[in-house]
Amino acid sequence: MASASQAQTADLQIRKLHPALGAEVRGVDFNRPLPETTVTAIKQAWADHLVLVFPDQHVTDEQHVAVTRYFGEPEVFHQDIIKSKRVREIFRVANTDDDGKIMPPSHPTMRQLSGAQKWHTDSSYRERPAVGSLLHGIEVSRTGGITCFTNMYAVYEALPERLKAKVQGRRARHDFGMLSRELGARQPTEAERKAMPAVWQPMVRIHPVTGRKSLFISPTYNDAVEGMDDTEAVALIRDLTEFAERKQFVYEHRWETDDILMWDNRCTMHYVTPYDPTERRVMHRTTIAGDAEVMAA
Ligand code: SIN
Repeated sequence: MASASQAQTADLQIRKLHPALGAEVRGVDFNRPLPETTVTAIKQAWADHLVLVFPDQHVTDEQHVAVTRYFGEPEVFHQDIIKSKRVREIFRVANTDDDGKIMPPSHPTMRQLSGAQKWHTDSSYRERPAVGSLLHGIEVSRTGGITCFTNMYAVYEALPERLKAKVQGRRARHDFGMLSRELGARQPTEAERKAMPAVWQPMVRIHPVTGRKSLFISPTYNDAVEGMDDTEAVALIRDLTEFAERKQFVYEHRWETDDILMWDNRCTMHYVTPYDPTERRVMHRTTIAGDAEVMAA
């Protein structure tokens, strides 16, 4: 009989990976079309566990994009750097260029990618931030490159009253421009800047599927908090981040080749740990485009 931590849903085997979030899902093959019952079961598991790990998914970029479409419309990144030259929906989280050559940490693309080493949610700087992301480990790191996720429902619920009072009814600003200002990434062109103005987002949001409240910050991109001067805003984002990264909320994923991870950007944050820059790390991501504005709690 299946134990509580290894429940059988449709034909999927689901094993919880951490008390706060994360589950491994077996019994699905992304090389083949997914029956509707499987898609429904994955959506349920996603709502329950927030981050799903699908091991042994040896897929092409085209199949990766096709799987993403079961869950929404894949986002096409607004800059040419990082976007794959071959499959436009693929965002290359890789230290190699399209021709497979390692880029040094000083390369503008690597500087931009270093933003992922700080807690964030993908595309939080868009008016309609991303729903979720699917990351495929093609060449995984053994020297670091661990992806850490935190459960922002649990973080919000456990926030000390002092911090809860500060975020309730408040908005924080999310600006893509932080990558060039703070990390020395390539300056956005005038057209890119116009396409991606900074946006104000509620700091407490309601998940459109589960109806649950979560804390919504994205420290890589946050550059201001409503009604606060810069010093206060920086201190608040720092205090919230320090609380959110407590071990009780965080699942750390150590990658195996051909893992595909699917996370919900509407109730989690993530970051990747540093790794030896001379070691190849090639990860391809699709991002499920936002389908609605963020619902304030
Ligand atoms: C990301 O932040 O989307 C990528 C995380 C990773 O490189 O593991």
